[in-house]
Amino acid sequence: MQTITRIADLRDVVTDWRLGRQSIAFVPTMGNLHLGHASLMAAAHLHGRRVISSIFVNPLQFGPSEDFSAYPRTPDDDGNLLREYGVDALFQPTVEEMYPQGSAGSTVIDVPGLTDVLCGAFRPGHFQGVATVVVKLLCLVQPDVAIFGEKDYQQLTVIRRVVQDLNLPVTIVGAPTVRAEDGLALSSRNRYLSAQERAMAPSIYRALDQARRRLEAGETAYASIEAEGLASIGAAGITPDFFEIRTAARLERPTELDVHLVVLAAGRLGKARLIDNLQCTAPVRE
Ligand code: PAJ
Repeated sequence: MQTITRIADLRDVVTDWRLGRQSIAFVPTMGNLHLGHASLMAAAHLHGRRVISSIFVNPLQFGPSEDFSAYPRTPDDDGNLLREYGVDALFQPTVEEMYPQGSAGSTVIDVPGLTDVLCGAFRPGHFQGVATVVVKLLCLVQPDVAIFGEKDYQQLTVIRRVVQDLNLPVTIVGAPTVRAEDGLALSSRNRYLSAQERAMAPSIYRALDQARRRLEAGETAYASIEAEGLASIGAAGITPDFFEIRTAARLERPTELDVHLVVLAAGRLGKARLIDNLQCTAPVRE
């Protein structure tokens, strides 16, 4: 695996691949890799002759009171995982390489509407930071396909919208959430949980699953399902941020005629903020 830190070197590698007509699949990450990330690397091999990943803890997507400097950085383990999964190249730039004007002085990508609801309402500027870095990375890597986890469902939706709005020549692929046996979605931030908190954390998945069952049984009392979900994660000791039912394609409030739905939840537990979601298909109504 080639590790590349400079944009100029990345351009050389990508140009060689493209001249050789080799398709490129790209998996952006912030490192501290786990089996959720690994599943994206495995999926990437189905979509590209060459697989490239990036590790970049992006300051633009962290709020002033968030964990940018404390975000776990584990470069040696990450390198081993990427090699094990047959990744051809790793792009691991510095903040200065990505934001030579400084992160506050850079051009940003704004996605109106989608970014100020759900997680965006609790993390102002977060999705602007994500959209900006992902567009920069897509311009640099020029992949045919880029792969993102459904675990961060709103992020995936924002990226699909940006790619559509800016006519970027890349196919975005969503990959299913990888979970621990008890249902907890794998996340780099799970390491902030104490043993006791780790035992409480799967309640968020159980509450989502209960909501999914009600929706799949044809219930349309969305407010009541949301209230039950909020109460159940609260009762489990998680401070809920939201528990909401939305349309799967556009993250809008559903009507009774919408069939493809997603239930999204977020909450705080100790030092960690947990997010999760489940998609479901409601019965079609005539
Ligand atoms: P990061 O949190 O490192 O996640 C990188 C990718 O791994 C994302 O697409 C995320 O959805 C996916 N992922 C994380 N946990 C997963 C799990 N349990 N199952 C499946 N996929 C999982 O998301 C980011 O980084 C950043 O915002 C980034 C897109 C790299 C932009 O900075």
